[in-house]
Amino acid sequence: MAPHRATEPYIGLMSGTSTDGVDGVLADLAGGSIRLLARASRALPDELRRELLALNTPGPDELARAANAANALTDCYADVVHDLLACAKLPASAVRAIGAHGQTVRHAPESGYTLQINAPARLAERTGIAVVADFRSRDVAAGGQGAPLVPAFHAACFGCGTGRAVLNLGGIANLTVLDDPVRGFDTGPANMLMDAWIQRHQGLAYDRDGAWAAQGSCHDALLTALLNEPWFAMSPPKSTGRDLFSLAWLDDRINRLPCSKPLPAVDVQATLLRLSVDTIASAVRQHAPGAQEILACGGGVRNPVFMNALARALPCRLSSTDACGVPAQDVEALAFAWLAQAHLQGHAACLPAVTGARHATIAGCLYPA
Ligand SMILES: Nc1ncnc2c1ncn2[C@@H]1O[C@H](COP(=O)(O)OP(=O)(O)OP(=O)(O)O)[C@@H](O)[C@H]1O
Ligand SMILES: [Mg+2]
Repeated sequence: MAPHRATEPYIGLMSGTSTDGVDGVLADLAGGSIRLLARASRALPDELRRELLALNTPGPDELARAANAANALTDCYADVVHDLLACAKLPASAVRAIGAHGQTVRHAPESGYTLQINAPARLAERTGIAVVADFRSRDVAAGGQGAPLVPAFHAACFGCGTGRAVLNLGGIANLTVLDDPVRGFDTGPANMLMDAWIQRHQGLAYDRDGAWAAQGSCHDALLTALLNEPWFAMSPPKSTGRDLFSLAWLDDRINRLPCSKPLPAVDVQATLLRLSVDTIASAVRQHAPGAQEILACGGGVRNPVFMNALARALPCRLSSTDACGVPAQDVEALAFAWLAQAHLQGHAACLPAVTGARHATIAGCLYPA
């Protein structure tokens, strides 16, 4: 009989800047392995999505609204945990911990804080599983950006010194250069502005398959105005979010264009796609000139217009992490399962070379089962 191999199941839950939903994975992380056992996703209820988006900007009664939104989000998290356990046919008691990122509503490391809406105590109570949460604050307290958090996981998953880089196309795009030591930073918007623009003009959550962007033409003057944003010229370490790249930011640039007639909305969408593509390609050229292959992950991988434009703009080959056996949609959630394990093992997974912190720190805070 084959010897019984010990397993170390962890759950990772990610709800990112796109505010589209919760992605969850259950993975066996025993002995440094990363073996996906189950995956599950749930869309956020419309009302919660609207409230989370609203909480990104100052408004009335924020404290009570944030607390209520945290509970509602946590109930979605608990549903995803339930789906994962049912799918893998595992009892909650078998899972070592859940890594639950929460929903970022403010990210201001330069002011000394980053804020993720989350109710980890409620999640531990509802699931009976230990929860690791608040992954970013300690790094910010140590003078870092608190972001990106995933490069240490990307290195563990895909290896270093391979001539590859990992590109996550979520709301924001972030690049991990798999050099030794590993480097990583946000490059700017991936889907976030395109999502917001199509929501405003067509009431849709996102531009499915990039079909709308493909019908428009890039407006060169607008693209130049958007690329003039000083954040793009900053050197890493750097991170960003909705605090900067919002519709208000876009409207401001559009309004300042010397145009006599309004820009067709479809052309703005095409320009936003071009903005994401150009800023990613320029970050690769500047900070990963030796990269031979970019492994893309996140929701943007499912947008063929985005991926084709990127493939044309990048100086090297573009593929998806699917090609390495890691489903593109699961990479970020896997990272939070891995970060939960790193926390329990006392492994400092926040890398100062990435975040700019004064020293490496253990990410997260534990809420025991
Ligand atoms: N078929 C598709 N066509 C076009 N865009 C898509 C498609 N599927 C997903 N997307 C885009 O991917 C986004 C969701 O990606 P993802 O969940 O990776 O982002 P996120 O929640 O911001 O995560 P993170 O912050 O972890 O990177 C959607 O908002 C949408 O813009
Ligand atoms: Mg998402």
